Amino acid sequence: MKAIRVHEFGGLDVLKHEVLPKPEPGKGEARVKIEATGVNFIDVYQRVGLYKPPLPFTEGQEAAGVVDAVGAGVTEVQIGDHVAYTSVQGSYAEYAVVPAWRLVPVPKGVSSQQAAAVLLQGLTAHYLACTTYPIQPGDTVLVHAAAGGLGLLLVQVAKLRGARVIGTVSTEEKARAAKQAGADEVILYTQQDFEAEVRRLTDGKGVSAVYDSVGKTTFDKSLNCLKRRGYMVLCGQSSGPVPPMDPQILNAKGSLFLTRPTLAHYTADRAEVLQRANDLFQWMLAGRVQVRIDSTFALAQVADAHRHLESRKVIGKLLLIP
Ligand SMILES: NC(=O)c1ccc[n+]([C@@H]2O[C@H](COP(=O)([O-])OP(=O)(O)OC[C@H]3O[C@@H](n4cnc5c(N)ncnc54)[C@H](OP(=O)(O)O)[C@@H]3O)[C@@H](O)[C@H]2O)c1
Repeated sequence: MKAIRVHEFGGLDVLKHEVLPKPEPGKGEARVKIEATGVNFIDVYQRVGLYKPPLPFTEGQEAAGVVDAVGAGVTEVQIGDHVAYTSVQGSYAEYAVVPAWRLVPVPKGVSSQQAAAVLLQGLTAHYLACTTYPIQPGDTVLVHAAAGGLGLLLVQVAKLRGARVIGTVSTEEKARAAKQAGADEVILYTQQDFEAEVRRLTDGKGVSAVYDSVGKTTFDKSLNCLKRRGYMVLCGQSSGPVPPMDPQILNAKGSLFLTRPTLAHYTADRAEVLQRANDLFQWMLAGRVQVRIDSTFALAQVADAHRHLESRKVIGKLLLIP
């Protein structure tokens, strides 16, 4: 089978097209014939070595397709099931072997492309808005990079929970996309001081939570956007990692809470994965959450997909089609 492998960390040229034996599922595992693979920022972090999986590795963390073989003891799925999964390394390939408990059934009416486009970022939006800081009706929250893959979904889930959502984006086109997703206010943080704007939009009160996936360039000012005892949810680092900080700052700025959550810890067992995935798919089928696919690339065009993601031009999701 064809797969995209990384043997050393680096630029786009470390993404190698290889032919590997089709993997066989072991005990508790199933093999998925992949129909669509999601491209995520974590794939870039792994390629460049910001996160360091053991080398060599097959890129990718998210896919949808059809179960075509199962190992011993598998009860969760059967051959022929339409499934999707996330948080398992190796989805930039034609086939992947996955722990069966991680596979979620894709309901009728949702395509593999939609499932692969929504799962990782949608589950993330779900846990951030429903669990990390469980948004209450009437809360005002700030979502950075509101037109990104994660951002567009997080805006929608935050609105479902009754929030007033302030989004930040870099361009007018992205501002339109964030508004379409339901953002009440959008700040062009490349042109405006987002801290001053948030203060203005909240009459100086600040927001209940900031969801900051941008990191280095937004973190310090994000702390200043929070109201007393607000939640700073640092959920990514698209602009680079946040440098070490003195915890005393959290006291000085209003007894703030700071957390750096990750999806794997919020999809820790099958019940949790299924509950979040089922919510997402139901919202999609009911038209309450829309998934926006920016572009699809053939597996062989993987470097173009990474280049596009890093270019900051993406609105919504990128997919690879094996
Ligand atoms: N913690 C978790 O569980 C979890 C799960 C999923 C994703 N994430 C994180 O969430 C972030 C977003 O992931 P995604 O895959 O959905 O990507 P994305 O949001 O579609 O793309 C990243 C966005 O970040 C903004 N950005 C700001 N400064 C940037 C810079 N210097 N370079 C590139 N982008 C910059 C851009 O939006 P503007 O142009 O509007 O600024 C860009 O569109 C990533 O950091 C990812 O690791 C975390």
